[in-house]
Amino acid sequence: MTADPYARIAEWYDLLLNPVLDGVRRTVAHVCRAEGLLRVLDACCGTGRQCAVLRGAGVACVGADLSPAMLGAARASPRSLPLLRADARVLPFADGSFDAVVLSLALHEMPEATGNAALAEALRVAPRVLLADYRLAERNLDLPAALFVHLPERLAGAEHYRNFRGFMARGGVEGLAHRAGLTVIRRERLFGGAGALLLAERNSRTA
Ligand SMILES: C[S@@+](CC[C@H](N)C(=O)[O-])C[C@H]1O[C@@H](n2cnc3c(N)ncnc32)[C@H](O)[C@@H]1O
Repeated sequence: MTADPYARIAEWYDLLLNPVLDGVRRTVAHVCRAEGLLRVLDACCGTGRQCAVLRGAGVACVGADLSPAMLGAARASPRSLPLLRADARVLPFADGSFDAVVLSLALHEMPEATGNAALAEALRVAPRVLLADYRLAERNLDLPAALFVHLPERLAGAEHYRNFRGFMARGGVEGLAHRAGLTVIRRERLFGGAGALLLAERNSRTA
């Protein structure tokens, strides 16, 4: 990473986005508890809020992120979380170190090759992944939320928006899981239908 895309927003990120994103974090924690996923890596942890919610729910969570600014915000909070700087494509963990890896609202902002590599690396360090990201509208009811999310994504900058549009053109989070040959074990609706949380694992026939 040459320049940190989160350098300017990191200190405001929680204030602006927690009201919207905390529901996602609670859903991730609920699924981890319900599915017995008790050792989790949040591979694009941002300010560490997801890790804090998981740890509050009794799930041991380690956070990793590439952005020094986001990790700085995470470390400035009084939560005292286990955090490290790492690229999600090259994680410094042995195969199968975790029960699951969370990739939350990060894949849509990556170029396709980066997202594919991050997903493959997540499936190296854990048998299961929790993918929380945007999905295509399935019903007319989903359309207002699906259209609305273009606004924050556009505001996040030209490169971010280009990657988001590419991600959606390839079918969003469901398309990614399908192309990767994953079996979806559980699916939760997010953002009024504009997003989904997928708990998925490698299809044993494609492993
Ligand atoms: C929109 S934020 C989401 C943060 C957090 N998951 C949340 O829900 O608040 C996307 C995060 O992905 C991180 N990220 C992007 N590319 C990454 C990569 N290759 N490796 C690790 N982190 C990455 C960014 O630094 C940023 O913190």
